[in-house]
Amino acid sequence: MAIEQTLVIIKPDAVSKNAVGDIIRIFQEKGLKLKALKMTKLTKEDAKKFYIVHKDRPFYDELTDFMSSGPVVAMVLEGENAISYVREIIGATDPAKAAEGTIRKLYGTDVGKNAVHASDSPESAKVEIPFFFSQLEIVG
Ligand code: CDP
Ligand code: MG
Repeated sequence: MAIEQTLVIIKPDAVSKNAVGDIIRIFQEKGLKLKALKMTKLTKEDAKKFYIVHKDRPFYDELTDFMSSGPVVAMVLEGENAISYVREIIGATDPAKAAEGTIRKLYGTDVGKNAVHASDSPESAKVEIPFFFSQLEIVG
């Protein structure tokens, strides 16, 4: 088992539902350590850059409009196998298919407005963490 860090974003839908505190609490209760945290608002260009891997997908424009539509809360979480563990805690991309008790089941609306993002692999985490945080902002 390896200690990993992963990037989570609370998306604009969940921020506007006042679910930020609840979502952070769920991760902490499941044993993940909060290493960095900020609220920010992405421009359309920022969102396009962050989701560049999806540039050829039909939902790219809608996704990047949504992600730049309001404030988001980004965080770095740390723990054993944090990348796959956090993906389990958030649930399937489509909240309708997400398991009971997962964050997307609890707070997601539809496949686009699905409350949270989490890095899907060590390679993604390595790019996504520095997208939001400098080394100085990651504590401990
Ligand atoms: O976020 P996740 O890794 O679970 O899914 P993804 O396949 O990497 O897609 C990234 C994001 O695009 C999703 O979280 C959704 O917000 C959005 N998406 C969408 O709007 N429509 C789809 N059919 C698939 C994804
Ligand atoms: Mg993904």
